Amino acid sequence: MTHSVPLNASQFSLPGLGVIIMAAGLGKRMKSAVAKVLHPVAGRPMVLYIVDIANRLAEQGVAVVVGHQGADVRKAVEGAGAHVAVAEQTRQLGTGHAVLQARSVFAGDPQRKPSRYLILNGDTPLLTEATVRELLAMHEAQGAAVTLLTAVLEDASGYGRVLRRRRDEWIQGAADNAVQTIVEDKDASEDERHVREINVGTYVVDGEFLFPALEKLNPRNAQGEYYLTDIVQMAVQQGRAVSALRLRDIDEGLGINSRVQLAEAERVIRRRIRERWLEAGVTMRDPASTWIDVEVTIGCDTVLYPNVTLEGRTVIGEETVVHSGSRITDCIIGNRVEILDHCILRESQVEEGAHLGPFVHLRPGVRVRRKAKVGNFVEMKKTELGEGSKANHLSYLGDAKIGAGVNIGAGTITCNYDGWNKFQTVIGDQVFIGSDVQLIAPVTIGSGVIIAAGTTVTQDVPADALVLSRIPQVTREGWAARRRSLQSGETAASPPLEKSAKTVKSSTDSVKKKQPAVQRSKRR
Ligand code: UD1
Ligand code: CA
Repeated sequence: MTHSVPLNASQFSLPGLGVIIMAAGLGKRMKSAVAKVLHPVAGRPMVLYIVDIANRLAEQGVAVVVGHQGADVRKAVEGAGAHVAVAEQTRQLGTGHAVLQARSVFAGDPQRKPSRYLILNGDTPLLTEATVRELLAMHEAQGAAVTLLTAVLEDASGYGRVLRRRRDEWIQGAADNAVQTIVEDKDASEDERHVREINVGTYVVDGEFLFPALEKLNPRNAQGEYYLTDIVQMAVQQGRAVSALRLRDIDEGLGINSRVQLAEAERVIRRRIRERWLEAGVTMRDPASTWIDVEVTIGCDTVLYPNVTLEGRTVIGEETVVHSGSRITDCIIGNRVEILDHCILRESQVEEGAHLGPFVHLRPGVRVRRKAKVGNFVEMKKTELGEGSKANHLSYLGDAKIGAGVNIGAGTITCNYDGWNKFQTVIGDQVFIGSDVQLIAPVTIGSGVIIAAGTTVTQDVPADALVLSRIPQVTREGWAARRRSLQSGETAASPPLEKSAKTVKSSTDSVKKKQPAVQRSKRR
């Protein structure tokens, strides 16, 4: 069953090229509940790396074959805005069978039938567009029926081996050393297992040749599957040319079947990403510990300290500094922002010249305006902090709109939740809030207001007012000294521990009648 989505031709695409991506496999060796091709590499599902290349090259459209957890794969691919048609492979009968499921995607208009197909495994995210273009060029130049990408590995175990014609089998008209067949690891003889040249899983196949060949496949092999790789042998038997391009950078051929290979791919992609940003003018104090997802962008002269993590679609401006241990996910950070150590920022926006940290937690929906400051142990959520305003110590600011030039005192809390609903706090410009203030939302504070330290604000306050809510202070002169002498006199006189404890208690009890605060401090 196929579902058509408008097929798209980009300006860099190759005329007559259709692309088929195999992404239906089970991925058993991953031991995961998540479809293998959806496991992220540098923050992006691995299949999307391949979809990207396909989208840039295909003129006659891209078909992605999904099966195992197909709905999730479809969602990821379509959600990435890729112009693809999805074909379903309901039973995973092998790579040859998978490609065959894409046939109807290209069956429509005979005028637009691909003259050749590029076929890609969904699990080779390190492959580059440049290599694929080179493969396509080789295919054209050699007029081949099948052109495949190979790599010579130190350890080829697990991969299909590329068997070439030996010199002693030289056949009239055939190129020396030409590829003869691909044998899967599980089907290979002892001798064949020693071959170190592997099939990467990237092929260009002649448009007339592909589907008739796939129809002739049979599953007589160790895995009982329809192997796409058998079309190589078929082409050779029909006297058609098969050409092969050997990878210079073998990393590109890494196929991900296990978590070990996933970690290896992650390492390579992360290194590539770092090199790209270093080249673009970003300073990294310790590149190896700097973690940058593939969709992040960073302005030049920005400095990243060790152990910084930039995730998702984060955008960082120019001349910004991010200190150690900070993690920034899906944020937009302006130019010349300073982020001190150990900040966690998510889905928020920080404008030019702002200053954050250390230990700031921005939850989704925060906007820190120009030159504002957020400091030690401040948590914010769905809150705007106006230009030049400061919240430097120990605060929770949620569902609040705070104007410009505001001072948020240490320990200020917006009490935004009554157990059922969330409410807004609105604070005008130039408001001064002293330390340890609670704002019981919904509440609006007019501009220029001063709120005294320790105040609990429960009602709206008009502009320029003073708000003060405190229990009046009680001061008893000499009281503390008298209590100390009373206590030390009695303990010195009575050595047995139990007895002394008792005496102290009774003496406290007598004091308690006059001053309950003493009893409280005693309990601590
Ligand atoms: C395949 C190749 C092998 C090559 C290796 C490179 C075959 C028979 N073998 O082996 O020669 O060295 O890739 O990494 O092609 N898939 C489907 N439907 C299926 C089976 C697989 O869509 O029924 C998809 C998978 O999702 C995956 C790709 O095809 O993206 C490759 O399948 P996988 O099972 O990983 O093949 P390998 O055994 O690695
Ligand atoms: Ca594989």
